[in-house]
This record gives sequence, C-alpha cells and structure tokens, in this order.
Amino acid sequence: MGAPWWKSAVFYLIYTRSFLDTDGNGIGDLEGIRRQLDYLSWLGVDALWLCPFYPSPMADFGYDVSDYTDVDPTYGTLDDFDRLLADAHQRGIRVLIDWVPNHTSDRHPWFVESRSSRDNPKRDWYVWRDRPNNWKAAFGGDAWTFDETTGQWYLHLFLPGQPDLDWRNPEVADALHETLRFWLDRGVDGFRIDVVQGLTKDPDLPDDPPGLVLPHCAVNDCVDTHDVLRGIRRVSDGFGGERALVGEVYLLSTRQVARYLAGGDQLHLAFDFTLLYAPWDAAAWRRRLQRSAEELDAVDGWPTWNLSNLDNPRHRTRCGSEARARAAAVLLLTVRGTPFLYYGEELGLEDSVVPSDRVLDPGGRDACRAPFPWDATAGHGWPVDDPWLPWPPGAGTRNAACEGDDPTSMLHLYRRLIAARRASIALRGGTQRILETAEGVLGFLREAGEDRRMVLANFTSVPAGAEVDGDWMVDLASDTSAEGRPFDGCLGPDAALLLRPA
Ligand code: GLC
Repeated sequence: MGAPWWKSAVFYLIYTRSFLDTDGNGIGDLEGIRRQLDYLSWLGVDALWLCPFYPSPMADFGYDVSDYTDVDPTYGTLDDFDRLLADAHQRGIRVLIDWVPNHTSDRHPWFVESRSSRDNPKRDWYVWRDRPNNWKAAFGGDAWTFDETTGQWYLHLFLPGQPDLDWRNPEVADALHETLRFWLDRGVDGFRIDVVQGLTKDPDLPDDPPGLVLPHCAVNDCVDTHDVLRGIRRVSDGFGGERALVGEVYLLSTRQVARYLAGGDQLHLAFDFTLLYAPWDAAAWRRRLQRSAEELDAVDGWPTWNLSNLDNPRHRTRCGSEARARAAAVLLLTVRGTPFLYYGEELGLEDSVVPSDRVLDPGGRDACRAPFPWDATAGHGWPVDDPWLPWPPGAGTRNAACEGDDPTSMLHLYRRLIAARRASIALRGGTQRILETAEGVLGFLREAGEDRRMVLANFTSVPAGAEVDGDWMVDLASDTSAEGRPFDGCLGPDAALLLRPA
C-alpha cells in the first residue's frame, strides 16, 4: 500500500469571501472558486480547504454557524457547492471543508432553544452555569455571558455570539456527526476541524492561573477530547479511508499537538504553527524542525506546515522582504511534511492596509484576508471595483495575470516548487536529515531510496558559504539565479536553493 494521499499533497486554503466574487455583492463565492479551478490546477495544488460558507450572521465571518448543512446565500447554494466539488474532482483536486464543532452561532436554532428556558431539552447542549469562572475569551473580554431570560451564564471561548457546545452530551455528538455525514454523502474529501483543543473542558471548569495572558482556548487541553475525536474519526472512516481530518489544535507546543495524532484513530494531520511563529533566524528554524520531528516521530505522526493563514499576518509581511518570503516558500515546499498554502501567498501578497472605518473583524485579522487580485484592471477581475475589504498593496502588478506573464515571479516560483515536489519522491515522502552548516544557514537532506535532494537557505542578508559533501546541481533557486549550474558553495543573501545530485 502506498502512502496516503494527504501525506504528499499540497493543500491550498481559500478564504471563501475573498477569492472571487461572481454575483456582484463584493464578496467571494463558491462559483468564483469553481471558475478558478483551472488556475489552481495550473498552480499544481492537490487539495483545497475552503473556509466556512455555511449560513451565518458573520459575527466571526462564518465561524459562527447557524446551519451546518446549507450554504449562506452570500456564497451561493448547495447546487453551487455540488458543481464546485464535481469540477474539482474532475481535475483531480480534492476538497476539504471547514467544520466548526466547538461552538455554534447564538442564532443557531439549537442555541435559540437552549437559552429559551432552563428545562428546554436542548438546555444542556451548551455549557450553562450559575457562576462564571475567570476564563478569558479569544478576542478579549470574559468567556461567559449572562443571559437575562434564564438567569444563568453561558460559556463562549470566542465571541458571545459563539456559544460553546457541550460535547459531553451524547445528543450533541450525534447531531454533529450527522452534519459530517451530510457533507461526506455529498462527496467531500474531509474536514479541517476548527478549535479541536476546545471540544471538551475540564468538567470542574477550574479557574485559569491568575496572570495568565492567554485566552482560555489556547490552554484548554482536556484528555476527553481524544475520545470525541475517535468518534469523529469513526464517522469519517465509515465513508472510506481516503477521507482526511486536519485539525486546528491551537496549542503552542508540538508535544501537546502530537497527542491528537497518536494511535492512528484521531486526526490525520494537525497544524504545527511553530514555523509560522518562527522569527527569520536559521537557528530558530533548525530547533523547531528538530523538535517537531522528535515529537511527531514519537506518535508516528506526520508534520503539517503553513507560513500564513486566515488568522495571522501574511508571511510576506512578517518576513519584511520578497527575497525572504521566496526563501521561506522554498523551505515550506521542501521540508518534510504536508504544506498548506494560503490563497495569494503564491503572489507574494502582503497584508492590506485597512483604514479604521473599514475594520470588520472583531479579531483584528482583516489585513490578511484581502480580496485576491486576478488581473491589473480596476476591479482586478472582480465584478466590483471596491470589494468588501481593500485590495492588497501593489495589486496593479502583484496579481495572477501579471505574475503569470513573468517567469521570474513569485507565482512561477511556487508553481515550479510544487512541480519539483511532485517529481521527487524524496521531497514528497523521504527522510530528512538536518545538516551541519555555518551559522545563519539552514540545510537539510531529503532521501528516499536513490532519490536525493538537498535544501540550503541563507537566513542572513549577506552572502554565505555552505560546504556540502558530493557534487550537486542547482535545481531551483529562490532568486532564480544559478539554476541549472553546479552548486559552487555560495548562497546569496536571504536566498534558498534546492539542489539535486550532479
Ligand atoms: C479558528 C479559526 C478562526 C476563528 C476561530 C473561532 O481559530 O481559524 O478564524 O475565529 O477558530 O471559530
């Protein structure tokens, strides 16, 4: 049996609101994604993760679900979804959808019932208490809101409009499992599961240590969640072993995250955010790669990397230069593990500048969610010139059409990296050995049988040297220089190279 597809796939995260609008409301939609499937095929990605498109009051832009089994009219219809899925599959692209099981919207009929009276049959679908504890919510404020009608407090690890479900209640588990079956029946290839670490809480709801600066959701790590995950996995495996569960386990140590992969009966993949939060520093990257390998090997887990996502400043912005962002892309697509790209990072998009009167997100994340610029026209390929959020900087040239015409662009770099990965079993699934290199340089060797690749990255802004064993050719360079030539031991400033044996 070969390795499962999700180990060698390149995933692409689409922020549904911002990919492409087709109905003229200034907000991206499912049909917009369908129309760009040829672009995604051309880029070479294997699978998509679509941000929530369910009916929602949009307090948290779709992470507040009011119906798990439908499409919000902003984004289209279930028919649009079916068409998108069918057309993606026709191109060999798999589709994972975002599933938000930790909380619903406060407008979800379940919560409307739950809050209606203390003896409502759905009262204990959510977490109600006479007194709150000291937990803080993710976007500030307390994690409890007092409900006048019934005189109790309800728990919300996020906004008051996102009450937490109580997964200890078997009826909740059954109802949520049904929503999985709904989409699995339609043919989705799996789910990205939101806030996995939140699903169960310590039943005593003990106070967090005084002085904790993190919101409670970043430290909630209750052992009972593993059984909840096993239940979810059984549902998904019931539809064939090809379906993948990718978890957002937002706990900052890989050791904690690894426990959610252990045993082969929980998640298939779980994001490791340690590179996303790593400074541009070779030693920091090396330490994180080594630690991650140790922690994941211990549970037979497979790494999952991203540089950017919907909740954090884009890596092009964090890195501070295009050169570094390009070198980081080489690392993301050659390091051992499954890479997740964030829509637009292949264009080198920076965070957009959002004037205070256009701020929308309660979590302050608008800047990394800008609309995707498809071309150089005023509306950048959208039917409106001024979509729901401002365009990212430089969209006049940093767009898919202009970069598509320029073989040295960031877009072509990503496309060539994805192709290089597809062509090398060592890059897709091989072992990884971190090399002894000069300070400021990170190097690793990927091997599978006869197939070998070496990756070298200079994290400093001056040229650096790297002595390597054997003769190597430059297959691909983040600055496109020296490609196709023998490696001469020199690395340009903030540059990364992919080498193959000469
Ligand atoms: C996850 C999502 C984030 C959302 C939160 C609450 O962290 O990535 O965007 O706000 O969950 O659902």
